[in-house]
Amino acid sequence: MPVQRTLSIIKPDAVGKNVIGDIIRRFEENGLSVIAAKMVHLSAVEAGGFYAVHAARPFFADLCAFISSGPVLVLVLEGKNAVPLNRQLMGATNPKEAEAGTIRADHADSIDSNAVHGSDSEENAAIEISYFFSDLDLHSRG
Ligand code: TYD
Repeated sequence: MPVQRTLSIIKPDAVGKNVIGDIIRRFEENGLSVIAAKMVHLSAVEAGGFYAVHAARPFFADLCAFISSGPVLVLVLEGKNAVPLNRQLMGATNPKEAEAGTIRADHADSIDSNAVHGSDSEENAAIEISYFFSDLDLHSRG
């Protein structure tokens, strides 16, 4: 199993519910290490830059408004198979379809207010990590 890095964002709804600790605990208990972290309140323009890949989708404006509606915690996670493992721990995009015990099943309210973001490929993880962090910010345990 390759060691990978992935970007996780604890979104404004989950920050507002005070479940940052619960979410990070799930990462750590499943073999992922936090190697970088910062809390930011994105502007609408910064949100649009991060979600540029979704620019043509009908929910783009709402997505940018939501992610910039309050502070978020941006994390870089490192560990074996970090990209798919994080997606597994998150659960399906729509919490109604998320497997029991996943972050979204336990903490998300709806498809557009769904607690966490996670990179969907190693390639996108590298792009997303570089949107928020420089190499000097990453404190690898490896
Ligand atoms: P997507 O990349 O499909 O999901 P995921 O976050 O699981 O990788 O979509 C990105 C975000 O866009 C998603 O977390 C919430 C929002 N979104 C909607 O608001 N409505 C939708 O119908 C979809 C598919 C996504």
